[in-house]
Amino acid sequence: MIAICNPNNPTGYILTNEEMNAIINAAEGVGAWILADEVYIGAERITDKETPSFYGRYDKVIAVGSMSKAYGLPGLRLGWAVSSSDIIEKIWRRHEYTTLSTSIFSNNLAALALSADVRPRLIQRIRNYIRKGFPLLQQWIDQQKDIFQMVPPQAAAIAFLQYQLDINSTDLANKLIQEKSVLIVPGDHFGMDKFIRVSFGCPQDYLKEGLTRIQQLVTEIRAKKK
Ligand SMILES: Cc1ncc(COP(=O)(O)O)c(C=O)c1O
Repeated sequence: MIAICNPNNPTGYILTNEEMNAIINAAEGVGAWILADEVYIGAERITDKETPSFYGRYDKVIAVGSMSKAYGLPGLRLGWAVSSSDIIEKIWRRHEYTTLSTSIFSNNLAALALSADVRPRLIQRIRNYIRKGFPLLQQWIDQQKDIFQMVPPQAAAIAFLQYQLDINSTDLANKLIQEKSVLIVPGDHFGMDKFIRVSFGCPQDYLKEGLTRIQQLVTEIRAKKK
């Protein structure tokens, strides 16, 4: 199985058509399944075009979506898998075994959220958060280019920042929690030290405060080194 996340977590990258086809060709060559985590579809930053699904492009695809990201409704605890009916049947059995059922209340709210009237408004809402938050992050990076580098994410409310500091990413994350009460994800969690994943899809004041606190810690780390 090839597990892929598109748009990607942690980079926010959106695969091109050619890249999607190359992955499908690689899978087809060995008869592999593609598990496509597509929870960030709808959360595009640089385009209004929704990212296409892997589903329908190749027989052996399981496409996974969720109410948590693009719709901003993680509390519903509801998502979906789209695949061939025999695979879905097997997934149902496992779902029953682990959770039995989702709440009927969540089901009804999700149906409302996905209705033709409401869905576009929710998608717009998340895109507004992402598009308003990103320039703040970009500005913040521009002020300290010697420390942080970023390939701008094309989707999602997260960015994967490379940093030039003499500290491991898990240690940096722990210091941020303990000393500044700021939560980020260390690159170690993605097998890439010297990166951190930050979120910018939040209200502007909240985001500014978080970034300021990161900057404070970075300044302190640098001052100690001297
Ligand atoms: C790429 C990706 N897939 C899946 C999930 C999980 O989504 P949910 O909260 O709907 O279980 C997350 C949540 O962080 C995610 O980032």
